[in-house]
Amino acid sequence: MKTETPVVKYLADYKAPTHKIETVDLEFHLDDTQTQVFSKMKITPVNGNTLELNGEELKLKSVKVNGEEFSNYKEENEILTLTGLPSEAFTLEIHNEINPKANTALDGLYKSGGMFCSQNEPEGFRRITYFIDRPDNLSVFTTKIIADKKDYPFLLSNGNLIESGDLEDGKHFAVWNDPFAKPAYLYALVAGDLAVIEDTFKTKSGRDVKLQVFVDKGNEEKSHHAMESLKKSMKWDEKRFRLEYDLDIYMIVAVDSFNMGAMENKGLNIFNSAYVLASKETAEDRNFFGIESVVGHEYFHNWTGNRVTCRDWFQLTLKEGLTVFRDQEFSADLNSRSVCRINDVRNLKAAQFPEDAGPQSHPIQPKSYIEMNNFYTMTIYEKGAEVIRMYHTLLGEEGFQRGMDKYFELYDGQAVTTADFTHAMSVANDNYDFSQFRRWYDQAGTPVLDITTKYDEAAKEFTLTVNQSTPATPGQPTKEPFHMPFLLGLLDSAGNDMTLALKNRDDQNDLDRGLLHIKADTETFVFANVNERPVASLNRNFSAPVVLRSDLTDEDFVFLMANDNDDFNRYEAGQALALKNIHAMLKDENHQVDELFIKAWGSILNDNNIDEEFKAVCLSLPSMIDVAATIDIPNYRAIHEAKDKLFKLLANTYKLELASIYNDLSTERPFKVDAKAMGERKLRGFVLACLSTVEEHKELARECFKYATNMTDMMNSLSVMVNENLPGCQESLKEFYDKFKDQTLVMQKWLSVQASSCDDTTFDKVQELMKDEVFDMNVPNLVSALIGSFARNKVQFNHESGRGMKFIAEMIRKVDAINPQSASRLAGAFNDYRKMPADLKEIAKAELTAIVESDKTSKNVYEKLSKTLN
Ligand code: ARG
Ligand code: ZN
Repeated sequence: MKTETPVVKYLADYKAPTHKIETVDLEFHLDDTQTQVFSKMKITPVNGNTLELNGEELKLKSVKVNGEEFSNYKEENEILTLTGLPSEAFTLEIHNEINPKANTALDGLYKSGGMFCSQNEPEGFRRITYFIDRPDNLSVFTTKIIADKKDYPFLLSNGNLIESGDLEDGKHFAVWNDPFAKPAYLYALVAGDLAVIEDTFKTKSGRDVKLQVFVDKGNEEKSHHAMESLKKSMKWDEKRFRLEYDLDIYMIVAVDSFNMGAMENKGLNIFNSAYVLASKETAEDRNFFGIESVVGHEYFHNWTGNRVTCRDWFQLTLKEGLTVFRDQEFSADLNSRSVCRINDVRNLKAAQFPEDAGPQSHPIQPKSYIEMNNFYTMTIYEKGAEVIRMYHTLLGEEGFQRGMDKYFELYDGQAVTTADFTHAMSVANDNYDFSQFRRWYDQAGTPVLDITTKYDEAAKEFTLTVNQSTPATPGQPTKEPFHMPFLLGLLDSAGNDMTLALKNRDDQNDLDRGLLHIKADTETFVFANVNERPVASLNRNFSAPVVLRSDLTDEDFVFLMANDNDDFNRYEAGQALALKNIHAMLKDENHQVDELFIKAWGSILNDNNIDEEFKAVCLSLPSMIDVAATIDIPNYRAIHEAKDKLFKLLANTYKLELASIYNDLSTERPFKVDAKAMGERKLRGFVLACLSTVEEHKELARECFKYATNMTDMMNSLSVMVNENLPGCQESLKEFYDKFKDQTLVMQKWLSVQASSCDDTTFDKVQELMKDEVFDMNVPNLVSALIGSFARNKVQFNHESGRGMKFIAEMIRKVDAINPQSASRLAGAFNDYRKMPADLKEIAKAELTAIVESDKTSKNVYEKLSKTLN
């Protein structure tokens, strides 16, 4: 039984720190199991002479105040409390010991392969030494690292290298100083025997910045794409946001064992190697894209996160929502803007909407947490980015950029709140009124817009009635209406946008941009001079992150698919139609798929005026999660079968056209990593998946695999073979393994594709793969690739026998003992607990209750699963 319930932290309890650590000089004597840490801090008291320092898993050796031994302290509940301290500035020296090798949680200082590295956001630094480990304590850090020279030729920390040299016994040292005061979560240390590639970037003011990417030896050739992405990021931020880099050196280090994607430590980013390493033989296009966007994301944090940081962790979206918005814009400026937007929204709907509709639902600015690591969520990040995007839509690019300039003018060098961001946006734009808009920070749940339309032929008027509502979420039974920017167009029968004129309202000013403001529960907009019945294109570009329900007809959707001047809505219209058909198929096995839809799908397929990638996304069917979203108790197997049936029908109807597109795209062409080439490979992969369901093309995937010269084609064909159980599947898996078994990133793909198959053999397969030498439970990427993929495999996780969820419950327990963050992510598989059929729910309940009640369960898993059961 759990003996004590973990402590809940509340935003409302925020208190300013009692002391400020002005400077800290750290000295590390690196050792696998007994690293010595000496910390010398210059501290200014702000309020009182009792100081509480955070410290976890530390062995305290000595404490000195102003150079004298000090014993007026006690250590309790991971807090070191020092009392009777001087009321003037003083120095505090602490010596403690840590065990990096035992740190399988990968939080604080740990070992990844042979190297030392660190991850301190949000609260890892307290596992290195005693500190005021909160983001509103900004200190200047100096670090001396001492280690064996042969094993650790590179010794890195934040800022500039100011000294280095040899010591006796084969040791050496390096001293780094970061002139920018920063919170401890941005601190980093790396020591290892690495390879490095170098370049330089000349900033807009003419300074040369040295750029370095550190990787395991032998991976140099795979790090150029990351380096190129870094240079593009630096250039883009100067151009679009006027932001220049501020140190003389920028380092990226790739590590194999990492809990998240990457970390923006000042001047020394540490990356999951999955977001650094890429070659055409080992990385898919989505990996190339992901590297560009994550390198950009971490770089953009230098201003939005580091120069202006968060006052407390409840403000996380201040830096994450904003930085995701910035990285999305970066990707959109460098690639196809429409496709980027479609993919971002697809991602939001597939992962954030369900989060917001389930037991973990929280506002982008949460009000409480037990374990902060549980709040690096789709909501804080992706919905947070949607909220920033809404400022952008409301203010326009110019107004938004004025707000950004104001933000840095007011808050550079400070730790601030989301309200400060809103303030900057407002004062830079004639005191724009964001008071109602602020509800986006406080209310959870995805708002629903119910829209009805009416055309009055005689009066030439078109009326749009918009009703908004937001479902209850944990702790928030009722909601106030949101202020949302709603972009719309009215199309005439030729497909042109009509000029908009509102009859009943005076807020006409944004109409030329097609922008309506939705504020009240119910809004009515009457458009005048509408000479024919228009087709309304609603919520263009997904301007408000909502669920939309409207009275548009199937004919309207078909019209929008073909004619909308907003690419996002062309895509969305197709999704809406597909979704309608899948729902109808679920209700009635004999449902005849709508001819209209089949035709419209074919028109997109045969349209020579749309580029390949846009075509591929428009033709893709809605995800299982999209389908399940509106069903109380979804039957995932049935959803899978319905989707499958529809997919086969479309593929068979258009098999000739598909085959001809496939052939066109199969002509030899040089490998490039640009939007055009990636789009072509994406469409080719999509068409291959279609054709593989057609009897006469069952051998095609194996062919494609055999002659593939890049990983995108290889994985596209391999996943089709695995999912459809096609001829050549087993040989291909074996060949793939033999070729890549020494490359863990590629093996992650191999594990994941097998664990994702809906086939009933997958369960046994996963048990077998866990014993394979390429698998390692200590590495989060591998846990996610194999066990995580199975946990996300809706059909197999929800297997009627209960074996899928029992297995994942067991894995949560096992992984939790190693790495609570990794385990907590697996626990997300139970988020649709309340939507499970009764017998499965019974099984889940027993498993989850046992975990929640166990004394061994981490705070991370406890918080997630106790909310799930609630
Ligand atoms: N700030 C990082 C990023 O978004 C994420 C680090 C979070 N790490 C964690 N262990 N929760 O770029
Ligand atoms: Zn981030």
